[in-house]
Amino acid sequence: MLRQDPHSYYDSAQPKARRMRLKLGVDFAAKRLEGDVVLEFGKAFSGPLDLDSKGLEILTVQVPGLGPIPWELGDPDTILGQRLRLQVPSGTQEVAITYRTGPEAMALQWLEPEQTEGKSSPYLFSQCQQIHARTMVPCQDTPMVRMAYQAEVNVPEGLTAVMSAGPVGDEALGGGRHVYRFSMPQPIPSYLLALAVGRLESRDLSPRARVWAEPETVAAAAWEFAGVEDMIQKAEGLFGAYPWDRYDMLVLPPSFPYGGMENPRMTFLTPTLLAGDRSLVDVVAHELAHSWTGNLVTNASMEHFWLNEGFTVWAERRILRILHGDDAAALGWAMGQKALEDSLERFEKEPHLTLLRMHLEGIDPDDAFSSIPYEKGARLVAALEREVGEDRFLRFIREYMDAFRFTSITTEQFCAFVDEKLPDALAAVNAHAYLDEPGMPATAPEFRSLPLDTITALAEGWAAGKRPSEAQISAWKPAELQVYLQRLPRQLTQADCVWLDERFQLMGRGNYEILVEWLTLAAAADYEPAFPRIREVLLRVGRMKYLRPLYGALSQHARTRQLAREIFAAASPGYHGLSRRVVQSVLEAYPA
Ligand code: BES
Ligand code: ZN
Repeated sequence: MLRQDPHSYYDSAQPKARRMRLKLGVDFAAKRLEGDVVLEFGKAFSGPLDLDSKGLEILTVQVPGLGPIPWELGDPDTILGQRLRLQVPSGTQEVAITYRTGPEAMALQWLEPEQTEGKSSPYLFSQCQQIHARTMVPCQDTPMVRMAYQAEVNVPEGLTAVMSAGPVGDEALGGGRHVYRFSMPQPIPSYLLALAVGRLESRDLSPRARVWAEPETVAAAAWEFAGVEDMIQKAEGLFGAYPWDRYDMLVLPPSFPYGGMENPRMTFLTPTLLAGDRSLVDVVAHELAHSWTGNLVTNASMEHFWLNEGFTVWAERRILRILHGDDAAALGWAMGQKALEDSLERFEKEPHLTLLRMHLEGIDPDDAFSSIPYEKGARLVAALEREVGEDRFLRFIREYMDAFRFTSITTEQFCAFVDEKLPDALAAVNAHAYLDEPGMPATAPEFRSLPLDTITALAEGWAAGKRPSEAQISAWKPAELQVYLQRLPRQLTQADCVWLDERFQLMGRGNYEILVEWLTLAAAADYEPAFPRIREVLLRVGRMKYLRPLYGALSQHARTRQLAREIFAAASPGYHGLSRRVVQSVLEAYPA
């Protein structure tokens, strides 16, 4: 037995599935998917086959043409779920499993009509990363395995299904049902399987890019993301032809727990990006960059997650620099620095979670999630880039993506490749300190610019009475204001809050990064005028990046702690299961 991914029952002595054929019925009343999956192996084999499953109700297992075969579910593990072991007879090339998802399936959020913009129809979306695909379909749920897939999704008439795949037709079935068919010809890891069903409309943004959203938001979404084709072309200039045919996006309801998710051919996005001024499109640059760094070359397991996210943050800022210049990129790095510092502080007592090469046996990957693989990882990539020079590094990146396209690799494989192509570079940047030591190496690259230095000096001078001038206040772009707020002292007085809100009109901001940064400061200052807005945001939005700091800041004073509990009681039924867990852990850290 060879289990190489601590988060999967996949046994690398057994064959890998090559393709998956899915047929799913979407039952909004029962909040379940029901259907069958056929796993194709592309060659005959026999013996035990171990799959991942969590909360699934397995109904039948058979070899098509041959009939039922023996199977058993192992004991449930809180992180991994249950091993589904099939006994496969000789000559088998594919297995078929009929099943139903459980009511608690973490990959799925079933929304009531009231939780959508239109308030008229239910909505379903999936989020499989890191290890939730197994709550949606029995499979080898590890990025070590890549599968092409095709799917048929049967939904109530009037609703539309989209997936991380190309659409290949749809038809009315009668009886109030409609079927949508999809095909993903390129092999993807299970965490990139994705499905959403709702009242959806789309707008074309270019011949290969389109945005989907509820009818109420689709026009705003089309405006916000109108620049995506330009972004794709800039990324192609860096990393080579876009490898996935179409780049479509779906703007989800506000409970979506992430900012974005790089589902191939259908990036999922939080509606909090719809700032009305295109100021938050860096998230699209990030998800688009995953089309190369991640979806094309990904991590073999979550222990090497930095290869996925660290490279993507670096790539995102490389695209940003081409689109908006050096100063904009420096601001991006500054925002990342803040996220990195917050995560290092959060894991102060768990320094093993601050390494890039992690050891995650027995650890839930959602608990290990932080900005460290993103920002420490991106700094290692940037250090290598500085060491060998931009041109040579870009050539290296293209070779790297050619060598490993459509595979999933470990840190060791990456290092061996760097040693071969850029000899001595790893030692020169002290890569060992990033990969295997906690915290940040003292030699990590810094990113500065004149505007950033000015903003930092102003923020750091707050206690000494320094304030931005009227001219500065009106000239700052959203990203500059965001960095300024991030660098202010965490503990402001109520008078400070009044000053900031008056000068910057913060309470009414449509840019959620600015709004939440402000509300976090206000909550930590026990600033009552902000309470209604905080309540509104926490009741509407389920993005974990915002919930963690807001609930954390509210937890600091007795009165706001009470408020946090009250808001959470009202908001939690609408939160995604992942978001609920994060808030619970924050609230538990500060007992009443
Ligand atoms: N793939 C991630 C989201 C993710 C990570 C989901 C781990 C589940 C587990 C996505 O690409 C991402 O990083 N999103 C960021 C945005 C980005 C600009 C840093 C987010 O959601 O905030
Ligand atoms: Zn990412």
